[in-house]
Amino acid sequence: MSESGTSRPWESPDQSEAKRRVLALAHEYLVPGRVETFAQLGIQLTIGRREAYRFWDLDGREFLDVHLNGGTYNLGHRHPALVLALTEALQTLDIGNHHFPSAARAELAARLAACTPGDLHYTVFASGGGEAVDVAIKSARRFTGRRKVVAMASGYHGHTGLSGCAGDDANARYFASDRPDEFVKVPFNDLDAMHAALRSCDVAAVILETIPATYGFPVPADDYLPGVASLCREYGALYIADEVQTGLGRTGWLWGVEAWGVQPDILVTGKGLSGGLYPIAATVLRRDVGAWLKDNAWGHVSTFGGAEPGCVVAARVLDLCSDPATLAHVNRMSDYLYAGLDDLRSRLGFVQEIRRKGVVMGLVFDSPTGGLEMMSALYQCGVWALVAGFDRAALQFKPGLLVDRAYADELLSRFESALQAAKSRHR
Ligand SMILES: Cc1ncc(COP(=O)(O)O)c(C=O)c1O
Repeated sequence: MSESGTSRPWESPDQSEAKRRVLALAHEYLVPGRVETFAQLGIQLTIGRREAYRFWDLDGREFLDVHLNGGTYNLGHRHPALVLALTEALQTLDIGNHHFPSAARAELAARLAACTPGDLHYTVFASGGGEAVDVAIKSARRFTGRRKVVAMASGYHGHTGLSGCAGDDANARYFASDRPDEFVKVPFNDLDAMHAALRSCDVAAVILETIPATYGFPVPADDYLPGVASLCREYGALYIADEVQTGLGRTGWLWGVEAWGVQPDILVTGKGLSGGLYPIAATVLRRDVGAWLKDNAWGHVSTFGGAEPGCVVAARVLDLCSDPATLAHVNRMSDYLYAGLDDLRSRLGFVQEIRRKGVVMGLVFDSPTGGLEMMSALYQCGVWALVAGFDRAALQFKPGLLVDRAYADELLSRFESALQAAKSRHR
């Protein structure tokens, strides 16, 4: 029974009518399992007003957002320059007709070719990251004539067809859509395992998140990603960099792979590319890998992929994220937040490890479910951060690119209260 005396644990007596209605409708028509699961963790979040790196629950409670929906809100909720770009675009544009070239799409594709590493050249647009990963895998298979894909066991690349088979495929299995013979899983940070998976020379591609988000952002060893790239070259497999969470400035580099000097054959971006305002994702292909775009002009078709207003917003996102001042700021704030978190660790304990590359951060706690416990404790203290799904001891901690010191201080202060509360439950 809930506090309100009903068997609906997502209800509580202090809820507004508006919030109660949203939760009831969502439970009845939309996501019953999510409403129930969050309620069991004491979380009944329905996001109303949102601005910069904060949002307010429909009941008016304020939250600092360090989930950012996986980096979708890298630049903050409703960044004024992006809202302006979108509203101006809507004065003249609509989604467009995906069969024909358009100014917004063509300019953005040229821009992506210029700002991505190495010989990445052609772009295929998608409406989400999973679709973009599907395009990456299809392109690698077409180019190599091979079917096998090597991926990380604790990786996440989306829930569409092929993307759902890459990484942990429990969900694909649930829907009888897994393909274990085609997707080989290896542990992260293990070059010997990668070598063993590639040496049969039948692998089309290795797909890797540069720093695996759902695994709690373990930072790869210095030689891991360059080592994988060189094994790919040796055995004729393509390197697909999934930069959906680590791209667009979060690591202090525009693309995470640049921090390790890796030039992928295919790069996938999404989430933050949308500015949090208009869905868009992209697969950027090496010129020869994208040769199918000449031979098979309708080889991948997506009505909403590269919708024109999204392209206009994404171009502004690239301006803001690639600005050297933004990247320098990310590195400064990374140091500042690290110093604060490290101080809390030495004073209070419970934090076991602080992982970071720029504002890509993962915190590991001294309990097998520490990430989950901290997610709930932070929620109570007005901070929203998400547990790492594949390691519940870890929390994904994702501050925005543009957070300032005042925000960081407030975040650290709320974090301290949450840490004390979570820790006290272990006494
Ligand atoms: C690393 C990574 N790749 C791909 C995806 C899939 O993106 P989408 O949810 O837009 O399909 C996600 C989404 O969380 C992701 O984190």
